[in-house]
Formats: sequence, structure tokens, C-alpha cells
Amino acid sequence: MSTILITGGTVVTASGTLDADVLVEGEKIAAVLARRPGLEVSITADRIIDATGKYVLPGGIDAHTHMEMPFGGTFSVDTFETGTRAAAWGGTTTIIDFAVQAKGTSLLATLDKWHAKADGNCAIDYGFHMIVSDVNDTTLKEMDACIAAGVNSFKMFMAYPGVFYATDGEILLAMQQAARSGATVMMHAENGIAIDQLVAQALAAGRTDPVHHGLTRPPELEGEATSRAITLAQVADCPLYIVHLSAAQALAAVAEARDTGQNVFAETCPQYLFLSLDDLARPDFEGSKFVCSPPLRPKEHQDSLWRGLRTNDLSVVSTDHCPFCFKDQKELGRGDFSKIPNGMPGVEHRMDLLHAGVVAGQLTLPRWVEVASTTPARMFGLYPRKGVIAAGSDADIVIYDPAARQTLSAATHHMNVDYSAYEGVEITGRVATTLSRGHVVIDDGTYQGSPGHGAFLARELNQYLL
Ligand code: URP
Ligand code: ZN
Ligand code: ZN
Repeated sequence: MSTILITGGTVVTASGTLDADVLVEGEKIAAVLARRPGLEVSITADRIIDATGKYVLPGGIDAHTHMEMPFGGTFSVDTFETGTRAAAWGGTTTIIDFAVQAKGTSLLATLDKWHAKADGNCAIDYGFHMIVSDVNDTTLKEMDACIAAGVNSFKMFMAYPGVFYATDGEILLAMQQAARSGATVMMHAENGIAIDQLVAQALAAGRTDPVHHGLTRPPELEGEATSRAITLAQVADCPLYIVHLSAAQALAAVAEARDTGQNVFAETCPQYLFLSLDDLARPDFEGSKFVCSPPLRPKEHQDSLWRGLRTNDLSVVSTDHCPFCFKDQKELGRGDFSKIPNGMPGVEHRMDLLHAGVVAGQLTLPRWVEVASTTPARMFGLYPRKGVIAAGSDADIVIYDPAARQTLSAATHHMNVDYSAYEGVEITGRVATTLSRGHVVIDDGTYQGSPGHGAFLARELNQYLL
């Protein structure tokens, strides 16, 4: 079995920092060896990686991506191959992507379809959630088969009537079904029925620019839907995970539920921490690059979200990576913002942007690792195989240079999309090396991975439940 010794670095985990060397044997971490003056241990290895001055982190886990996702008559442009490669460049070693049930199709056929898309193509490990858009007796039964197949988190939509939308009754049924096995329902919490009225009013009044995407999806309608989802989950006694939380009103609802001890969890995304409604209002249709749902919010929501990350009312940061090119895809909505495909690229920059939060004093180093790796591992049944630097865990390791400088740009990123939402933004910190199960995927500015190295992860249940 080949061995790698990572020497001289500072190991950062959710519980703290440690000056330690890390020995990798084959695909696993064999030992974490604290360095103490006067206690020198000599170890030989096939390869030595010098991590002096750098952080040694458990690989990032992005629990919310959409590769090759059908949406608005087109597909998100990263394939599993390009998207997982870009993830590795940015220090993410696991993604959990969403299989999308189309109305009238079965969950198991959907799962097969997503396996076929990903199998043999991924540079890093991956799992699936299941989007349930058609609730009926067959679907409800199939949820158990999905759970047996390692897919035990089911996303539902209170938004997008006529596409993914589920009624409160359908949501309750799916939650009751999930609750029987301890599975988690993930919720896109926006009141889509009310939003559709506001969209129709805006278009009728000639308000067609991208900013109206944001103005017709007010934060109150995210707060309302979040409260309603929480109530439905309480009645069904079902664990609930609010995806892509963007608004202070929604966060308040989550915090209140968590204070009562309900199994309610939430994630936010870098775009809600760093970008705002001002970006959606950029002229010349540039705002379309920032169209996602829920929409970017007025800047004042950002402080609440950072605070929520510190108090653990927000426990995960995922990207909701769903890239559509500006040319020909976002452009579908020129003259009608409601036709702009919803979604933004981001899988490559989550670790860097959160590190920028550390540099700005918004998060501690251990909390960075916790929200980006350890908690998603526990939330989605992957811990301690993933999410920690410890003997026996997969050697998914990121060596991160906290002093390096980089400028984010479409000209240099590795995502298969023709723009960057962070064009020209300067960041302190950069991935130096990424290992996926003991294999070097990124090193010193080169990609050394291969499609097909990444393996499907059948996941256990949410590990925060008693
Ligand atoms: O705008 C978004 N978020 N697109 C991806 C689909 C979803 O709702 O997560
Ligand atoms: Zn969503
Ligand atoms: Zn999403």
C-alpha cells in the first residue's frame, strides 16, 4: 500500500487546531502525529508533502449541487466530470447532488438515471439526495427503497407551481413517510403560489428586468414558507433541513424551532453571505447572472446569516451550484425575468469564500471546517468516514495556503460556465493540494485526478437525531 506523509502543517478540525503530521496509507488516514518539541518521531513514506505554513483540513463536503440538472427547458452546464473536477480545485472532496424526479416518473428510475450520469465520471466521491416532485402511493413506497439504496434525504418544493411544487398535503404525506424510517425532508421554502401572482403583476406592468426576480420573491414569503414547513414537520415528527436559506425572517423561524428542540436544521450558501439584491440590479442584463431562488437579498440580511452560522441556527454552508451560461441560457430571459434559468455557479469557491469569512473575523478556523465539512458529514450520514482528520477516516485531505492571494475570474476558474459571480474579487487563501481517498487530485496548480476515481457513497441517516 502506498504511503504519503504530510509534514509541518497545522491540522484544523471542527474541534480545534493542532501542529501535527498526517500519515496516509492507501485510501485512509493511518495516523495523526502531534509534533512536540523533544518528541521527534521518524516515519518513512513513499511520498512526503511539505505543508509548512499551511492548514491541513478534512476535504470539503458540498451537500447541495446540481450537475446536469434539467431546469427551465435547459440543463445546468457542469457535468459530473467538469463539476467534480472544479470542486476538487476548490478543496471539496465530496458532493451530494440532487436526483430530480420528473412528474409521472418513478423515484427508482430517477435514481438509476442519476447513477448513469455520475458513474465513471466523478473526480471525487459523491452521494445523492432525491427531489420528490410527484407524491403518490408508488412514490411514497419507493422512498423506502431509496433509503435502502443510501439516499435518505428528500427535497421538496413549496415554490415553482406546475414544476416541482408540492401542496401542503403532499408534503405532509412525504414527511410522514420519511419519519417512519428517520429520513430527512429538505425544503425549498418559498411561497410559490403567492410569488407567481407577484410575478404576473410585475410582467403585466412591464417590469421585466432581472431585479424583479428578487422583488417578486420577498423575504417574508420565505419566512412564511419556512414556518409552515416547520409546522408540517412538527406534526409529522419528521427531521427537516431547510436548503439555501437566504432571509432573516426564515432564520428567525428556524432559530425558534431549534430552541424548542425540534429536529430542524438549515444551510445557507456563499451567494447569500457575499452578494445582494444590488447584484441582481446590475444594468445591461448583467443581473441575470445572479438569478437564483430564493433570490439574493438586500445587504442587511448578510449580518443575520453570519450570526446564524456562529450560533449554529445555520449549521451548513453548501453552494446550490447550478450553473447556467450567460450566453444562450441566462439570455433566455431577456425581456422576461421569469424565463431566466434559476441558479448560480459556485462549487469551486465555497472553501475560499468561507475562508474570507475567517479572515474578516466572521468565523473561527474550526467553525470554517465545521460548517464546510464536519457538519455536512454528520448531517448526511458520512461521519467519521468523511469530515474529519482522524485515523481510520478516508484520506480526503486539503492542504490550504492561508497566505496565498488569488483573484476569482471566469478566465481562470474550472467550472464549465462562461462567467464568475465573483469576477475580480480578491481572496486571501487558496488550495495547494487536494487528496481524495489518498489520491492526489490537485497539486501545485495542476489537476492530477481522473474521472471515475470518485465513488458513490451510500449514506447513513442524519447523525444529529437521537
Ligand atoms: O435557483 C436555484 N436555487 N436553482 C437550483 C434549484 C434549487 O431550487 O435549488
Ligand atoms: Zn431549491
Ligand atoms: Zn438547489
